[in-house]
Amino acid sequence: MSLTPSILVTGANGQLGSELKKITQEFPQFNFTFCTRQELPLEDEQAISNYLEAHQYDFLINCAAYTAVDKAESERELAFQINATSVGLLAAICRDNNTKFLHFSTDYVFDGNATEPYKTDDATNPQTVYGASKLKGEKLAMDENSDAIIIRTSWVYSSYGKNFVKTMLRLFQEKEEISVVNDQIGSPTYAKDLADVTMKIIASGQWYEGIFHFSNEGIISWFDFANAIKEISRSNCKINPIPTSAYPTPAKRPGYSVLNKSKIQQLYGIQFRDWKESLTDCLNEISS
Ligand SMILES: NC(=O)c1ccc[n+]([C@@H]2O[C@H](COP(=O)([O-])OP(=O)(O)OC[C@H]3O[C@@H](n4cnc5c(N)ncnc54)[C@H](OP(=O)(O)O)[C@@H]3O)[C@@H](O)[C@H]2O)c1
Repeated sequence: MSLTPSILVTGANGQLGSELKKITQEFPQFNFTFCTRQELPLEDEQAISNYLEAHQYDFLINCAAYTAVDKAESERELAFQINATSVGLLAAICRDNNTKFLHFSTDYVFDGNATEPYKTDDATNPQTVYGASKLKGEKLAMDENSDAIIIRTSWVYSSYGKNFVKTMLRLFQEKEEISVVNDQIGSPTYAKDLADVTMKIIASGQWYEGIFHFSNEGIISWFDFANAIKEISRSNCKINPIPTSAYPTPAKRPGYSVLNKSKIQQLYGIQFRDWKESLTDCLNEISS
């Protein structure tokens, strides 16, 4: 490894990529390169090979992904190319170049029928094209590069990009009354906390390959989440709880997608922030 280890971050303008960009100054011991979709288009295998032939890195953090869950139902091929085939290629090139590969996956690899938090080795059973493409990406990454780290996460939000928190803030401005599902249960993840954990893992100097789970602490419904956003942002919008059946979407949402985080806690000593504390931070960030 070079004297100042280098890190390539893909998906530079996404939620997680943007949060990583923001904390680089806390890690002066690393040289960061951030690349956007234009610089490294993951649907183009030749472009991936060319880019990684021309540049050598010690770590590759893959924040790029096809994340349009509903659209993926009608863009299966593209979702699988970006979330699976190209992830396998990135993992293989990293193996050949001696680059540590860190990748992200999702609670959507599970079917959402559990009643207790999913462990990293629980059976997967994706119900959507997005979930299936991310699961295939996990498998290809591990097959090509047994040293890879994959962090599954859920309900990601941030002051950047599109997400539930920002949608709620917009709807609170536009409407007097909205409806939010109260029978889908999970744990939100502030992308800033995920970025912190990612860098904590890399800076630890300990590299435990395999699959990890990370989210903020706490188990809530989207309705609970919306109410907390309302309370902290001091909105007057009325929020009605509705069942999933009253809000049909092209891609089926998991009913229960809480992740068991004990592995990342035990191996990396990660502490989890309470979801409401992180939400408050994010809303302060947005309002400032
Ligand atoms: N968001 C969630 O709720 C959630 C939940 C569970 C897991 N995850 C996983 O967490 C990771 C980070 O998610 P995120 O929320 O930061 O996602 P995001 O905000 O949607 O960002 C994804 C990034 O990937 C880029 N991208 C999309 N297609 C690309 C392509 N063909 N080539 C290169 N780059 C491409 C996007 O580029 P543009 O900026 O140009 O669009 C964007 O910068 C992903 O692996 C995701 O699957 C997310």
